[in-house]
Amino acid sequence: MVEKKFIDYLKNKYSKNYLYFDEFMQECLYSDYGFFAKGEVRSSKSGDFLTSPEVSNYFGLFISNWIKENRINSDSNILEVGAGTGSLANQVSKYLEKEIYVSEISLNALKALKRKNFLVDSNLDNYGSSQIKTIYMNEVLDNIPCSVGIEVDNTWYEKTIEFTKDNELRYGKVEMRESNLKWIKKYNFLDNQDNELEIQYNTEQFLDELIKKVDPNHLLIFDYGFEYEERNLKPYKSLIRTYKEHHLSSDPIEMPTETDITYDVNFSFLKQYFEENNFEYKIMKQYEFLDKYGYKEIYSSLKNQFVETYGVDQLKLKSDIVGLEAIHNDRGLGGFYCIEAKKL
Ligand SMILES: C[S@@+](CC[C@H](N)C(=O)[O-])C[C@H]1O[C@@H](n2cnc3c(N)ncnc32)[C@H](O)[C@@H]1O
Repeated sequence: MVEKKFIDYLKNKYSKNYLYFDEFMQECLYSDYGFFAKGEVRSSKSGDFLTSPEVSNYFGLFISNWIKENRINSDSNILEVGAGTGSLANQVSKYLEKEIYVSEISLNALKALKRKNFLVDSNLDNYGSSQIKTIYMNEVLDNIPCSVGIEVDNTWYEKTIEFTKDNELRYGKVEMRESNLKWIKKYNFLDNQDNELEIQYNTEQFLDELIKKVDPNHLLIFDYGFEYEERNLKPYKSLIRTYKEHHLSSDPIEMPTETDITYDVNFSFLKQYFEENNFEYKIMKQYEFLDKYGYKEIYSSLKNQFVETYGVDQLKLKSDIVGLEAIHNDRGLGGFYCIEAKKL
């Protein structure tokens, strides 16, 4: 049952009888009614999903090793975008012995980060003069609203969400907006073979803004995703899904604002994006990144300590080892993609 208050809010705000999918996703996640505005910070044990820094306290160690290896000037600052609970920023800050700037747009995460005294803002303009040269983010792009393209007889349409007379929601389709059509052509995703296409035009805008306003030398991005040539290996027409309380949940229009709406990030788009914006990039799986930045050393050190320890300390080490294995496992978090981009 869809909340009437939310539908009334949408009808008032948009003077049309449908929303594009990205507008719907934006409202469901980030409006005052949204999933990320209420309840616990969602990326936590008591929330709805667990991310790498919530699973292992060592995720930030690998990122700080990457920063140490890449940062040209050790006085320059570091920004984590979409910091959620702040766990990852805490870890990176501890290993680098340096305060980390964070940004968030989720109202509940913003409140929690301010309570924990982070240097936090949702407005990137305020970071422009902060000498930030390194930006990293984990599982943020999959939460940036996408549009959905549907191709019928060589014509592209966009998926919409319509309001019925009984104030229910249902899917429809309308002619595609020009900006989205341009995005599909620019990144050459025309051969979509009967699948729905998640159009990441808003992510392009978001990255443009980040680069223009903050002007970083290095970016590091982790997320679940795919490369376009593998798209048809996935047995789903749509890569959009929802999560609630640590489980896959219903179709996005069944419980709007009650579930996290997310999708697999198209890393072929990101590769081309960075190339065209004068960045050189490397793409790899998360487990490969961890291997490159010290996984084996920390894993064997914890294993060695484990056999020499007893009682509560040993339990704590066991939990650290299990966490490390979970972020490295290529059938789980370790199988996520990671892109390192360096300004040329
Ligand atoms: C899946 S959570 C991940 C949180 C954290 N990065 C982690 O790894 O636990 C995604 C977070 O990204 C935030 N987010 C999405 N779009 C954003 C944007 N444009 N700027 C800042 N934060 C954003 C959301 O509010 C949400 O807290």
